[in-house]
Amino acid sequence: MSEPIIRLENVSKIFKLGLLGKTMIKAVDRVNMDIREGEILGILGESGSGKSTIARLILKIYEPTSGRILYRGRDIKEYRGSKGLKEYYRKVQGVFQDPYASFNPRRRVLDVLRDVMKNYYPITSLQDIDREIGLTIEKVGLSMSDVIGKYPHEFSGGQLQRLSIARALLVKPEVIIADEPVSMVDASTRIDILNIFIDLKESEGISFAIIGHDLGLTRYVSDRVVVLYRGQIVEEGSAEILSEPLHPYTQMLAKSIPRIDKKWESKLEYSVGSIELGARGIGCIFVDRCPQAMDICRRQEPPYIDTGKSRVKCWLYTEKH
Ligand SMILES: Nc1ncnc2c1ncn2[C@@H]1O[C@H](COP(=O)(O)OP(=O)(O)OP(=O)(O)O)[C@@H](O)[C@H]1O
Ligand SMILES: [Mg+2]
Repeated sequence: MSEPIIRLENVSKIFKLGLLGKTMIKAVDRVNMDIREGEILGILGESGSGKSTIARLILKIYEPTSGRILYRGRDIKEYRGSKGLKEYYRKVQGVFQDPYASFNPRRRVLDVLRDVMKNYYPITSLQDIDREIGLTIEKVGLSMSDVIGKYPHEFSGGQLQRLSIARALLVKPEVIIADEPVSMVDASTRIDILNIFIDLKESEGISFAIIGHDLGLTRYVSDRVVVLYRGQIVEEGSAEILSEPLHPYTQMLAKSIPRIDKKWESKLEYSVGSIELGARGIGCIFVDRCPQAMDICRRQEPPYIDTGKSRVKCWLYTEKH
């Protein structure tokens, strides 16, 4: 098994809300997870399950409330100050959901890309910078002539998302964390963009964590997957587990594939309050929605069961109850 580039060890993130900080939301709950060398790890879960929080923790936008995140064995909290952060972001880059929000609307995209090069490779000549940018833009299926002189609003969402992938690539990172990179682009171009990630993994050996709420797309792009429910990993394994899911929650996701507007639907259905700390029982996090709930599921938190194919946090797969 290859060495993990990023490892999350028992990571939790609690947000305190309200004036007195009395409402606590456990957005991420004791997550153990690896991003391995040369793989695409899919992180799947409905709205509010903690996906973006995990991305932000890995990208050092948030700090864990407890637990550790390691980059090649080193706690990422040691990357401090502008120098430390820059060293970290040389290795670990992010791509976000809304490409328009991640480019300054008043600057030409080419200038933004040049700034990235100047920042990370300060001694490179302008000519070499533009050559590197040209090559990188080609890797995401565009060419320099598509980009010259243009501002972000002059691109389609799909084109601009390709350019935000290019911006991440310019740094030559080892791993890219992509938070729902295709959910805001036109449905017809989603697969093309996912194919860019697959190509980059194969040709450059870059590792990815790709967050999504669509089971079909996540299965398509990923080598391995983790399924999140209310901040907890409930099932993980190779992407094939999504074809024959074991956890009742993953089974539910698999059944609802044809419903296109699932994300919006789940936003309506689950209020933020549903994961307030006080609202959590002592048993399984999924018990209230589980069609196969048993007595023990209310009384005791299920352990992770290794079935050989997957690791699943569910009492159905243990003999001990
Ligand atoms: N900065 C914050 N302050 C307070 N609560 C937060 C913050 N960020 C996230 N949360 C809460 O943490 C939980 C997980 O949010 P997160 O954004 O990680 O979910 P998500 O899986 O990315 O959802 P979506 O699919 O809607 O993007 C939610 O209940 C959210 O309201
Ligand atoms: Mg999110």
